[in-house]
Amino acid sequence: MLVLGIETSCDETGVALYDEQQGLLGHQLYSQVALHAQYGGVVPELASRDHVRKLIPLLEQLLQQCDKQRADIDAVAYTQGPGLIGALLVGAAVGRSLAWALGVPAMGIHHMEGHLLAPMLDNPLDFPFVALLVSGGHTQLMQVNALADYQLLGESIDDAAGEAFDKTAKLLGLGYPGGAVLAKLAQQGQPERYHFPRPMTRHAGLNFSFSGLKTFALTTWQNSAQDAQTRADIACAFEQAVVDTLVLKCQRAMQQTQLKRLVIAGGVSANLQLRQKLTFAAARWGGQVYYPRLEFCTDNGAMIAYAGFLRLKRGEFDPDLRFNARPRWSLS
Ligand code: KG4
Ligand code: ZN
Repeated sequence: MLVLGIETSCDETGVALYDEQQGLLGHQLYSQVALHAQYGGVVPELASRDHVRKLIPLLEQLLQQCDKQRADIDAVAYTQGPGLIGALLVGAAVGRSLAWALGVPAMGIHHMEGHLLAPMLDNPLDFPFVALLVSGGHTQLMQVNALADYQLLGESIDDAAGEAFDKTAKLLGLGYPGGAVLAKLAQQGQPERYHFPRPMTRHAGLNFSFSGLKTFALTTWQNSAQDAQTRADIACAFEQAVVDTLVLKCQRAMQQTQLKRLVIAGGVSANLQLRQKLTFAAARWGGQVYYPRLEFCTDNGAMIAYAGFLRLKRGEFDPDLRFNARPRWSLS
């Protein structure tokens, strides 16, 4: 079975081919970052229009890269939600139509399911496990019992971790999206200069709150000399606070569920401090941490092709030619 995956939930157009025998054959990604940077955030209408422009050419490139024809495709998986409705509709319309034209099944996939399965693109991983999903739109701890059996353990009550990274980066003048830029700058920061709070770590439970940290960063910045070293020091203090908070809540989730395997996925799982600290902490609690390769932490078509492959193997597919987008859609 050869599955085409299509991802268009936000500002990345991603396509990939996953083969039952050979695994991932190839993937293509087009990022709209440059398009939105001048506005300081994603402009939904521009995102949809750019997906329209880029999706089909990207698909052609993918087929060429993998030396495949359209007729070789056995099924099409597309991101059905959550995300920006116009952007989602582009992938859904193209995916569903292409499947119809080829006479093959189509399958709408949950974007966060794609993220949480992404480590399996490279390494085998058995269920059950705990997943920390940290992206621009979500911060969730999920107990993953099996494919399609997800139980929400905790989530952010305000900003997602990636959103907090982006907003803090913006107020420090690092542009948009600034999560990765902030993380790089943090390496030059002096860790002892500022100490930021670890929000909600004194509360029992597994929920998160990151919006206060961004305000803390703003106040600290406004009351400082606003020089380059201070910018790096604030970036460093902010990153440490987010990472420590995530690590502590993960540890609690592992204790609560008695599970040993932890998956981190979504854009913020690219953060090296988070990976290092979690791996170190997991060794203490006798567990193991799994994360996707860097290019599959952020949005991509490969994770959608793979999730689609697993769902289709279970005999799941869209029941008819109708399709819709689900901009708000709970995984659990
Ligand atoms: O999963 P993703 O590509 O898109 C969503 O589904 O939201 O995640 C994007 C988020 C952005 O907020 C970005 O700033 C953040 O992931 N991000 C990072 C890093 N790389 C990407 N945050 C912290 N450190 C990084 N190295
Ligand atoms: Zn994502």
